[in-house]
Amino acid sequence: MQTEAIKRMENPSSKERFAHLTPEEKADLLEEYLAEELNEAAKSTAGPRPMPTTADIESAIEGRTFRRGVGTLFVAPEGNEVKHLPPIPQGHRLEDFFHSRFMGAAKHCLQSANLAMKKGASEEVILACLLHDTVQCLMRVDHGWWAAQIYEPYVSEKVAFAIRYHQALRFYPDEEAGYRYPTLYHVLFGEDYKPEPYIEATYKMVRDHKWYGDARLVTANDLYSFEPNVNPQLEQFADIIGRHFKQPKEGLGYDGSPVAHMWRSIEMPDRCL
Ligand SMILES: [Fe+2]
Ligand SMILES: [Fe+2]
Repeated sequence: MQTEAIKRMENPSSKERFAHLTPEEKADLLEEYLAEELNEAAKSTAGPRPMPTTADIESAIEGRTFRRGVGTLFVAPEGNEVKHLPPIPQGHRLEDFFHSRFMGAAKHCLQSANLAMKKGASEEVILACLLHDTVQCLMRVDHGWWAAQIYEPYVSEKVAFAIRYHQALRFYPDEEAGYRYPTLYHVLFGEDYKPEPYIEATYKMVRDHKWYGDARLVTANDLYSFEPNVNPQLEQFADIIGRHFKQPKEGLGYDGSPVAHMWRSIEMPDRCL
């Protein structure tokens, strides 16, 4: 018998919806799925159902109306409609983007930074956790690199490093640092997925870098580390943002920086050209 979570995970039409879910929703759904798998496995001698393979993931590309790497601002979070976005106030501060543009990643990043803070991480690591997935509103493909690029003019080199490389490190466990390969990645990438050579080469470079520990801490405070019902607010990090984020006086998107257009794209995702 298929229970509800298993049906939702394995139903072909729900695969598309799964790609849109926020990290928290994916984690919740996966947790539910795995719990039900265990129950089902306990009742049957056939063992747990297999995770998707890379071939399954590949075969689900055609039939979608979007690409999985698209930014979350550009697709409907639920149903078939996107909604009007509130204007970004004059000043175009980081906080404004958190409140109305970063979508589901905002909550995920707040939880991650909150966990890092509780564990006594450095302010730079806490800031890296706070920012690490926010660019997914603009682009999900290679989001570590995109995120580091969009923040590079405004944060220290170390913070940008930690943000950029958390993406590659997520594919490589480090039990000593408290990081295990996420089961969710078996669902998203396929259980037989092997990171591409550029990811492998990046991992090897970062593993030997003096800031490896900082990038690794972003992954160690990432998904699956959350306490239920914890709802941190951005105000909690105001001092850290004030000390470590160089808010441009012209506003994000209007300071003539090489990434200003990226901030404007987040501000105005409904512009057709
Ligand atoms: Fe990430
Ligand atoms: Fe994350």
